[in-house]
Amino acid sequence: MGTPGSARSLPLLQEVLALTDLPVLAAGGIATGRAMAGMLVAGAAGVWIGTALLSCTEGLNGAAARLRIREADGDGTVLTRAFDVAEGIAWPERWPGRALVNDFSRAWHGREAELVSDDAARQLVVDGRRTGDPAHAPLYAGEAVGMVRAERSATDVVRELTADAETALRAVPGLLG
Ligand SMILES: Cc1cc2nc3c(=O)[nH]c(=O)nc-3n(C[C@H](O)[C@H](O)[C@H](O)COP(=O)(O)O)c2cc1C
Repeated sequence: MGTPGSARSLPLLQEVLALTDLPVLAAGGIATGRAMAGMLVAGAAGVWIGTALLSCTEGLNGAAARLRIREADGDGTVLTRAFDVAEGIAWPERWPGRALVNDFSRAWHGREAELVSDDAARQLVVDGRRTGDPAHAPLYAGEAVGMVRAERSATDVVRELTADAETALRAVPGLLG
């Protein structure tokens, strides 16, 4: 199995299902009822979502961060260790995080070894967190961020996801003719 970020959800789900009879949750990039239905048909017992909830008012993101989420696309994200290195967070190297691209990630993604000893650059992220500076603070979000276009409650997101999944699943028998 690949390292985080290297395996897409569907190939990973197939690999895991081949290894166990336990219930398996599919995660990563699921932000619509169609995608949820697809994972259930593929054998998942359920789905685990993160990014789809990032513009919800109950979350910890402030209004400005929620707006950035709604304006972002999946190709405006980067899987990087740069923010962890800057903040001195002891995540193992093999677990980077996907965040919206900003000035800091543009400058330092891929240069983490150099960043370790650049106190001034690292401080930009620490200060950015404190002041809410979008150019330097990390805003973690997955590749499905392009599907997040409205500010809604988490209840509404989950209700719509499950209702749309049910609609998609009810259409499946029609595929059999
Ligand atoms: C803002 C944010 C922070 C996250 N932090 C962690 C974390 O600290 N540790 C972890 O294992 N997963 C973390 N995740 C991953 C989620 O637990 C979940 O597996 C993932 O978001 C599912 O993929 P999706 O975001 O494409 O729906 C985070 C996800 C988001 C969006």
